[in-house]
Amino acid sequence: MAFNYITAQEAAEMINNGDTIGLSGFTAPGTPKFVTEALAERVVREHEAGRPFKINLFTGASTSDHVDGVLSRANAYNMRAPYQNVPDLRKRINAHDCHYFDRHLSEMAQEMRYGTYGDIDVAIIEAADINDKGEVILGCGVGNVPTYAAMAKKIIIELNDKLPHQLLGMHDIYMPLDPPYRREIPIFAANDRIGSPILKIDPAKVVGIVRTSSYDCVKPFTAPDEVSNMIGRNVVRFLVGEYKAGRLPKEFLPLQSGVGNVANAVLYDLGESKELPPFMMYTEVIQDAVLELIQKGKCTFASTCSMTFTDDTEKKLFADMNFFHDKILMRPAEISNNPEVIRRLGVIAMNTALEADLFGSVNSTHVLGTKMMNGIGGSGDFTRNAYLSIFSCPSVSKGGLISNIVPMVAHPDHSEHSVDILVTDQGIADLRHKDPVERAHAIIDNCAHPMYRPLLKEYLNLGTQGQTPHTLRAAFAFHNAFSETGDMRNADYGKYL
Ligand code: COA
Repeated sequence: MAFNYITAQEAAEMINNGDTIGLSGFTAPGTPKFVTEALAERVVREHEAGRPFKINLFTGASTSDHVDGVLSRANAYNMRAPYQNVPDLRKRINAHDCHYFDRHLSEMAQEMRYGTYGDIDVAIIEAADINDKGEVILGCGVGNVPTYAAMAKKIIIELNDKLPHQLLGMHDIYMPLDPPYRREIPIFAANDRIGSPILKIDPAKVVGIVRTSSYDCVKPFTAPDEVSNMIGRNVVRFLVGEYKAGRLPKEFLPLQSGVGNVANAVLYDLGESKELPPFMMYTEVIQDAVLELIQKGKCTFASTCSMTFTDDTEKKLFADMNFFHDKILMRPAEISNNPEVIRRLGVIAMNTALEADLFGSVNSTHVLGTKMMNGIGGSGDFTRNAYLSIFSCPSVSKGGLISNIVPMVAHPDHSEHSVDILVTDQGIADLRHKDPVERAHAIIDNCAHPMYRPLLKEYLNLGTQGQTPHTLRAAFAFHNAFSETGDMRNADYGKYL
């Protein structure tokens, strides 16, 4: 079948006001970049002409400025799910200019197939190659593209010449049957392959192919600072202790690592550790640090949804595909984040918190309880089902004006029942086998910044009875102090009692 080669602008003209669009990819990699830019320009023109134009956009996870940046600046979103991390979109979401709902990433595809979010009008897919039978070699991220492509009425391909054809074999495309017909997901080790190396689409649905040329434009990390290094060392110290005590098997367990600067720094520290054996990863993203760990032989295999590498690291990967080809496998989000598999493999989950409370609950998403930061992403998929769930964060933010250890989290994403270990630059609190008050002491003594310890102890001593002695009237004294004075150290429980 002969495909129609078109420009990004022509592709954008094929999208209508009110359309629901599904994109390939997960984080920036694998995500289209050019049609969305042309679409944003078109939306601006439509708005200038006084015509309404909004779309619903579904992805695998976050995207990049080429998608969420340009489209949110153009005010193009009616609805957006399941995850984002772009400042301009964050502003729209918090101003109610965009209906955003963040979902556990493993759940999105099935909900989509059941029809929860309606139809998909257009799927835009980034590809390294496509043949006339509709066999697609995907790029560096998968996300929910098997479902979006299967449901879409029309498909636009971005054929990116920066993507090497040797990516063939690095994907594992598998779509489970939906309940009540679902069978076990047959992954018994992180490196088990269960699906197809290509994505099969209906070639008759392809309305156009846009030739593109671009690396994935992942934002470079800030170099690890002293605080992230201390957190990294503490996570490694904890894991080494567990390993030496025989509470982890000698083969070790697969690791999941979350997103962000701290997560990247933790992985660099793991690479330095002489006391831990080489390990595999079963995770949703691999960041720059993981490519180095693979190069060093410290990480022997990574199952992921996306290779979230900065351009320099992506170039290193592409220059040495023979070495990396059989050491990384990219799967759809509903498989990379599958709760059944995570529990079976005994994954050690390492995610980052915005804030944690004295009893172990974690807020990953809402700054001061109200403003959306990014979303829950895959952190819930992993945290709830991991063998060991570790959360880390700096003990304080904004130079000490904010304590990331608070009496009660202002938005709970992960409850105390799912959080095993809390780590800050100050130290490690092992919350397992501890009652709520014991947990609170472990967190204050080991994780809180010394300047906040007296205030946190005072909260515990307000005299409330019960197994979990929260004093509800004063529970947000830290957050209120920050809103009113710009400094949590001014928390005054007396005002509320
Ligand atoms: N209150 C207010 N602001 C806070 C805060 C708090 N308790 N804690 C951190 N911040 C601010 C920081 O000061 C920083 O602000 P800046 O950008 O103005 O400097 C910003 O939030 C980011 O903090 P940082 O420590 O650099 O975070 P990070 O890059 O390590 O990311 C999360 C942390 C929680 C935002 C990120 O991990 C996330 O989105 N997690 C949810 C999704 C997830 O876990 N996915 C992975 C599953 S695989």
